[in-house]
Amino acid sequence: MHRHTIAVIGTGYVGLTAGACLASLGHQVVCADLDPVKVAELGRGDVRILEEGLPELVREGLDAGRLRFVAGAADAVRGARTVFICVGTPTGPDGRADLTAVDAVVEEIRTLLEPDSVLVTKSTVPVGTAARVTAALGRPDVGVVSNPEFLREGTSVSDFLQPDRVVIGSDSPWAAAQVAELYAGVDAPVVIADAASAEVVKYAANCFLAVKLSYVNALAELCEEAGADIGRVTTALGQDHRIGGAFLRPGPGWGGSCLPKDTRALLGTADALGVDFPLVRAAIDTNTHQRTRIADKIARLCGDADGSLNGVRIGLLGLTFKAGTDDLRDSPALALAAELARRGAELTAHDPAVPATRHTELPADITVVDDPHQAAKGASALVLCTEWPRYRGLDWARIAADLHHPVVVDTRNHLDPAALSAAGLAWHGTGTSPVE
Ligand code: UGA
Repeated sequence: MHRHTIAVIGTGYVGLTAGACLASLGHQVVCADLDPVKVAELGRGDVRILEEGLPELVREGLDAGRLRFVAGAADAVRGARTVFICVGTPTGPDGRADLTAVDAVVEEIRTLLEPDSVLVTKSTVPVGTAARVTAALGRPDVGVVSNPEFLREGTSVSDFLQPDRVVIGSDSPWAAAQVAELYAGVDAPVVIADAASAEVVKYAANCFLAVKLSYVNALAELCEEAGADIGRVTTALGQDHRIGGAFLRPGPGWGGSCLPKDTRALLGTADALGVDFPLVRAAIDTNTHQRTRIADKIARLCGDADGSLNGVRIGLLGLTFKAGTDDLRDSPALALAAELARRGAELTAHDPAVPATRHTELPADITVVDDPHQAAKGASALVLCTEWPRYRGLDWARIAADLHHPVVVDTRNHLDPAALSAAGLAWHGTGTSPVE
């Protein structure tokens, strides 16, 4: 395999994963970040994000001399044949992705890029960004490529090294071929496209996933009213290969740093292009509805008839947007907590990835505890928000003794209803009948 020299700008979970994985494929990689403290930590192999397998891969790359970390993009691009931009693209005031960081990197490196090198956007960027970057570069000798990532937090290393597909979009065939070479060690179909199509794929995938989940969550509500069981419905649904069995688990709504941002961004892009896209808007509205619906359910079980929860203590299990990550961004657990607090509830929460010392990152009305049993003490209901495996093995008899009312609301159908029922607890799942 041909060994390439690569620069990666930005060491968030996308940049760091891409850098470490490309180094593990045998390439020579320099990763750059603006934050010198983070650069020093990473240079020592000190990875601060919870991402399975990533610390090991970073240390392996450092030890093999294939991975380096530097402060600032200028140092990284010197000698690099391919430069990946992996900086953040948060939501801007109009809902569209804010490209300030991407523009700043392009401006900083445009005159420093090696002749005949390739500049790749891996950050999630709206359609038209490759054209914008090409214009800002003013370097006809440099190829511009869109190579979107499909990494899930928590499993980003395996998603990078064993992806369903690699998408490479460019209007310069030689630049696309050069980026395809980097993935020679990855066993996956490579889709070569024009730059605009590759940029659309990223949003198309995330929005499709959001629509799929909102559909399941709406179905779950229907199942509850109809006396049907969402688990049986999704099992049969997923066996149709045209639908697929993945991403069909109901829950408190989808969250995280990507799906909420990308659905808003696609709507922003559609608006700007004069295209009406009510399907994605409906998926967002259905998602927002989940927190009201679950709060209504909790209020019915232990609050007042008017839906208020004044002075009612609620215990929360899980705060991160899904299990396997310590990320709290756009977490549905926090959205539900805010709705419960608005109705007057007093909240005590536990999350294995959010120690009580991280309480400053959370709204003041949530008390964080380091033991899940403590979250249950004196509560009128215990609500599971995040599917951490360890919650299945809790001491339910002890929890039954600690709870003020024997009510457990399992927003993700993660717990074993029979184990709860044996301990005298009533289990209230999503899209299914309660088990008393
Ligand atoms: C998502 C996409 O899955 C990745 O392919 C994409 O690369 C990434 O965004 C990104 O754009 O960077 P991620 O945000 O890490 O990845 O999380 P997911 O695993 O997709 O979960 C998103 C949300 O959906 C979570 O709140 C999760 O709990 C929820 N979910 C997921 C369900 O409620 N049910 C499911 O069956 C699956």
